[in-house]
Amino acid sequence: MTSARQPFLALIFDLCKQTRLFKAIMVMLSPLLQTLTSTHHIRTKQPRHVVEQVYEKSMEEFTAETRAVFEKPLSLDRLLDYSDKLQKEYKERLQSSNISMLPSYQHTLPTGLEKGDFLALDVGGSTFRVALIRLCGRKENGESEIQIRRIRNVVIDKKIRDLKGQEFFDWMAERIADMLAEYNHMNGTTDARLPMGLAWSFPVEQTSPRTGKLLAMGKGFCATHGCEEQDLSELIMRSCRRKNVNVEMRAIVNDGSATLVSQAYRDPTARMSLILGTGMNAAVYLPTTALARAKFGPRPAAWFRSAAHVLVNTELSMFGKHTLPTTRWDDALNAAHTLPDFQPLEYLCTGRYLGEIARLILLDAIASAGLFAGHVPELLTEPYALDTRLLAAFEADPDPALSTASATFLASHRLPPSAPAPRQEDWLFLRTTAQLVSRRAQAYLATALHALWRLRTREEGLEPGCDGSAVSIACNGTLAEKYPGFLQGTQGVLDALCGEGMGVGEGGRKVALEMAPESSILGAAVAVCCAE
Ligand SMILES: *[C@@H]1O[C@H](CO)[C@@H](O)[C@H](O)[C@H]1NC(C)=O
Ligand SMILES: *[C@@H]1O[C@H](CO)[C@@H](O)[C@H](O)[C@H]1NC(C)=O
Ligand SMILES: *[C@@H]1O[C@H](CO)[C@@H](O)[C@H](O)[C@H]1NC(C)=O
Repeated sequence: MTSARQPFLALIFDLCKQTRLFKAIMVMLSPLLQTLTSTHHIRTKQPRHVVEQVYEKSMEEFTAETRAVFEKPLSLDRLLDYSDKLQKEYKERLQSSNISMLPSYQHTLPTGLEKGDFLALDVGGSTFRVALIRLCGRKENGESEIQIRRIRNVVIDKKIRDLKGQEFFDWMAERIADMLAEYNHMNGTTDARLPMGLAWSFPVEQTSPRTGKLLAMGKGFCATHGCEEQDLSELIMRSCRRKNVNVEMRAIVNDGSATLVSQAYRDPTARMSLILGTGMNAAVYLPTTALARAKFGPRPAAWFRSAAHVLVNTELSMFGKHTLPTTRWDDALNAAHTLPDFQPLEYLCTGRYLGEIARLILLDAIASAGLFAGHVPELLTEPYALDTRLLAAFEADPDPALSTASATFLASHRLPPSAPAPRQEDWLFLRTTAQLVSRRAQAYLATALHALWRLRTREEGLEPGCDGSAVSIACNGTLAEKYPGFLQGTQGVLDALCGEGMGVGEGGRKVALEMAPESSILGAAVAVCCAE
């Protein structure tokens, strides 16, 4: 009966792998660990019911300690202090950074009065979507309407990713041709010419609102083969012209811009957007004077003459390194990351990382406080093996016994047959962990958004309480959409930070998070109007 010991050793091995710091600590502790494991070895030879593993601390102590380190930084005073510091970071990078606070070419937002039919394209890692979009303008009730009249999702499988250079764009042109034919059929025309917008979720170096240099796409795509640095618009248009597809590329947008402009069409207070899924990003609409001239790079003088504002890609994930307090588990995650320190806010707040932070806490609790009676569930020693969806399951389970969530957990992370059945207390600890990790993510995210709102308000020369200062933030992404209570929790912290109750904007809110459904495809169409 040494099975209890094996996971314990595996765990130490895993922790050692996490960081060099851990390694050093383990070396220092190794005599103690040896004694621990050898006594353990002797004990496990006794019948199981008398086995009493000695742990550093009780589960209650571990829980209390974890709660304290997660909750301590979240008092309103502290969050406001981080917000001040983040505003300083933003200001610095608006002056000089070539990786964050990047101005786009987009300098107007839609008015909501624009009308017309558009072809919208959305190219992502696994799907290509083509749609016919109608902007209907403002209706009698004062609301502006957008219709998706037709939409087609095409899976991008390996065969498509393998298409080299122009072949990939020829493949796109065929799907565009089908959609245009459908439009002509619906419209009773034979030769309609449609303006087209593209949401491109890959790197592109924009050179105007409608053009941009194709950069390496990653994710196994070969489309850049022989075409790197060529104009993306022209690559698509070349394929369309060859097939006599009567369209005209008028706008290229990234996720963040697409989300903001699609929402701005319907909501005149939309000034920021937030993408919150596996990763994160935000865009903000600022006066051009907020950025140093050098940040804009070479642009035609005409652009500067016509642009009073500009849509800025913040790369928000990269902020907060020296501002937001972290725990020892965050530090272990960061140290083991392929790009340590690169996206500090993202490592604390997004779908890819919440599960990983929780995994490191669980391993710690197993080893030092006897969670699961010291047994390591299957795969839990694998980095990134704990899916954030499992945390969501623990937060969503209304059953006090957490029966659904615990079954879901055990389906991916079985306990060894020799392990005793988990106690209620174990499952409650998992739920507490999910709550602590996600609440902190909501608080930090709200703080980063609050800082962005304050920056925007100041750059516009507005008072934080006055009418024009109320904004809505257009949101998209799976974490925002699917994680139970995530957006509401973030809104709650934002309200507190903004000192709600002073009566501005809708429901007295100064900053309102709004889901922006279908933001990429709609944003691609709306962007065509903004680019005019
Ligand atoms: C970005 O800026 C850093 C210094 O701040 C510089 O070393 C680097 O070469 C720049 N990169 C580009 C692509 O301009
Ligand atoms: C669709 O049909 C209407 C009415 O015949 C026409 O005015 C319009 O130009 C057509 N749309 C396009 C994009 O050609
Ligand atoms: C926004 O959400 C939709 C699903 O509602 C998704 O298809 C789309 O890719 C998302 N867009 C962005 C920019 O995240």
